[in-house]
Amino acid sequence: MVKKSACIFISGKGSNIRSIINNSRDYNFPVNIKLIITNNKNALGINFAKKFSIPYKVIDKNKSEFEKVAIKELKERRIDLLCLAGFMKILTKNFLRKFSGKIINIHPSLLPKYKGLNTFKRAIEKNETETGCTVHWVNEKLDGGIIILKKRVKINKSEDIEQLVNRVQREEHKAYPMAIRKIYNCY
Ligand code: GRF
Repeated sequence: MVKKSACIFISGKGSNIRSIINNSRDYNFPVNIKLIITNNKNALGINFAKKFSIPYKVIDKNKSEFEKVAIKELKERRIDLLCLAGFMKILTKNFLRKFSGKIINIHPSLLPKYKGLNTFKRAIEKNETETGCTVHWVNEKLDGGIIILKKRVKINKSEDIEQLVNRVQREEHKAYPMAIRKIYNCY
């Protein structure tokens, strides 16, 4: 199988990188991670790029400069799929149009509920009994693109928010690789 080339955009911890990279070692997994880009020079996730010898680029610039450099990198490396994983900048319409149908994101809620930030706090305040994560296509509406898959997690009243976040993150680490397999019908 000829694998597609993927790039991951991160701003922070980058734990989703590790799960995607681990899965990408399976010969049956449809993508190889060819590049990691961050807008934050202190992003811990850069360490995964170093550890797994994946090329990475820190683009610590304003949004338009960031996008200009990122577009050049993505084109030069012929990236087929761009995965956003905790990437904290909102991409411009211009950028999204250039990579239309090629960008996916993971969001810590059961979309369409709780788009945007502070999803866990808002779900708890609304007395939700469950939350989870969603992998979706990225379009011009914030967290509004077509859903690829969701994973549900029960909200346990006796745990604190940090424990809940950790449990959802463990599901994210399964959900992101599963979503990539689903896109390319590779199970
Ligand atoms: C995840 O919780 C994801 O849902 C959100 O940002 C976080 C990224 O986590 N979009 P990590 O940086 O991959 O550990």
